[in-house]
Amino acid sequence: PVIYVVTPTYPRPTQIPELVRFAQTLMTVPNVFWIVAEDAPILNIRVATYLNSTGLPHTYIAAPMPEKHRKKKVIPKGVSNRRAGIDWIRRHVEDGVMYFADDDNSYDRRIFEEMRWTKKVSMWPVGLVTHLGVSSPVVIDGRVIGFYDGWFGARKFPVDMAGFAVGIPFLLTVARLRRPEVTRTGKFAHHRSGVRSSDRDYRLLMHKAEMPYRAGYEEDGFLQSLKISKADIEPKASGCTKIYVWHTKTQAARPAPTIARNRTHFSDSNLPSL
Ligand code: UGA
Ligand code: MN
Repeated sequence: PVIYVVTPTYPRPTQIPELVRFAQTLMTVPNVFWIVAEDAPILNIRVATYLNSTGLPHTYIAAPMPEKHRKKKVIPKGVSNRRAGIDWIRRHVEDGVMYFADDDNSYDRRIFEEMRWTKKVSMWPVGLVTHLGVSSPVVIDGRVIGFYDGWFGARKFPVDMAGFAVGIPFLLTVARLRRPEVTRTGKFAHHRSGVRSSDRDYRLLMHKAEMPYRAGYEEDGFLQSLKISKADIEPKASGCTKIYVWHTKTQAARPAPTIARNRTHFSDSNLPSL
């Protein structure tokens, strides 16, 4: 199965270095498709040029956060991006696995082989999350019986975004099950736009399997929308005993003076300056 990696990104001086680091990990992984979704109203030609230069199969989409969410005290980072990624998958993909991979984490290539055969939802530990140093499902006899995390809040699934993957047929099944609500819109739009009914499910149906714009509850809201229980979770990485992904954070770079700024985004001086 192909792994569809959904990566939120946004413009800042460390953007290209983050993407380079992650791209070079992905280059070592067979059968991946990279969905890069940028929190900006328009695409950045330099990012597009870099992505093309990697040779990785990818798409690059603009997914700006709605203003009302950006004004919040704690902004829900990467949500509009991931929603756009889910939507792209619904419209273009029927098989495979979806993984939400932030642009600044550190990924061991082995994590991709762990998640590749996910049926519903697979999970594994993520290092460097909160003061505890790790966030992980707790596994006994091959079953997830609970979670270890520095912040539970009111979450049913206190896990990090980098700690799970979803089977795409399962994701789409959840979507199709929600027919009553969806059919109305679907029929209406079908009638108006004349899309084929086979496309309709992915393109127009519901946004019920969805990520909320609620900081801290993005993972939990999304997983709950899939209507899974602990028994559905497939523990990976040797029964959640190995760490193959870390929630690293890159220190913010001081913005360069305006004239230099556009150039410092590049690691390759041959890229065109505009
Ligand atoms: C943590 C979690 O790991 C994220 O999954 C979660 O989205 C985020 O908190 C949150 O809700 O606040 P953290 O390392 O604190 O992540 O945040 P960032 O790495 O700065 O941002 C998460 C993702 O969203 C990144 O891929 C980043 O490129 C993107 N992002 C960040 C945007 O698209 N727009 C922004 O304004 C900021
Ligand atoms: Mn991060």
